[in-house]
Amino acid sequence: MPIRLFIIFLLTFTSCDTGSEKNGANPGDLGDVSTDNKGINNAGKDQNFEVLITKSSFDNFEALEKEWNYNYPWGSDHNGSARMTTSTQNHDQISLDNGVLTITATPLMGDAGKSSHPPYLKIKYHAASLHAKQVIQVNRGYPKYELSGEFKAPVDKGTWPAFWITAVNGWPPESDILEFKGDSLNWQNTFITPKDVFTEKTAVPDAPLKWHKYSAVLEMIDDQDIMITYYTDGERTASHKANFTDKPMWVIINLQMEGSSGSPGPSSPVTYQSRNVELIRYRNQ
Ligand SMILES: *[C@@H]1O[C@H](CO)[C@@H](O)[C@H](O)[C@H]1NC(C)=O
Ligand SMILES: *[C@@H]1O[C@H](CO)[C@@H](O)[C@H](O)[C@H]1NC(C)=O
Repeated sequence: MPIRLFIIFLLTFTSCDTGSEKNGANPGDLGDVSTDNKGINNAGKDQNFEVLITKSSFDNFEALEKEWNYNYPWGSDHNGSARMTTSTQNHDQISLDNGVLTITATPLMGDAGKSSHPPYLKIKYHAASLHAKQVIQVNRGYPKYELSGEFKAPVDKGTWPAFWITAVNGWPPESDILEFKGDSLNWQNTFITPKDVFTEKTAVPDAPLKWHKYSAVLEMIDDQDIMITYYTDGERTASHKANFTDKPMWVIINLQMEGSSGSPGPSSPVTYQSRNVELIRYRNQ
């Protein structure tokens, strides 16, 4: 884009938080983990935003099943050694308590076959994954989305927790808001192509012990590009430009195992917890 437009864009972009206050709503609240979102309760037709995933979606299974589906959009297996087995009838790998979702990966005894997805790893764990019923699709009608959640993420070798968004059609787009690969570095990645990837790594030494907030703001630049800005505990970590305008993308929370996070993974159960997950979409006005 022309340099002048780009500067205007930068100015608009860096002031986006105050911009939302101007509208009488402050739904993003990226700056403070402990503050509740004001404005959500007032969200209605006359507001310029809608809450697509509510902070109460982990209050009970009825609330969860209203906003989330079990497993990956494509099934139970992916690129690690855990198979996602949760369903409406089977809650062995997940529990809800006081608004907190706990996913447990449990090591298996005996042969459970191989993952049906590349690189076809041997299945060694049962675990859980959720994907939101609402997708993210940044376009002229909905030029801005905010996605955030608080997590306690395992960092042991062979544990691969993620909070991420990925293409509905083909792949990429992909954007990882939380991805730990067997140590305490959080990888916030934006996949433009399988090989053209922006990566920002942030050390979160107490990631499994303390709640940390991981967020992304996705904003349309033009008919091709969006800007994805990542945050950890309200601090901006990176901004990545990506050609994801109008591409539908799933929101996924999962505890995968081994694969990119090393092997062998743990020989006893591990947990990944989340709460206050929220997705807000802004209307064009
Ligand atoms: C494997 O899954 C993780 C999320 O758990 C994702 O970040 C990564 O890009 C995936 N890799 C491939 C090759 O699909
Ligand atoms: C984004 O651009 C790259 C080329 O830089 C292209 O290979 C890719 O398919 C584009 N992605 C989308 C979602 O259009």
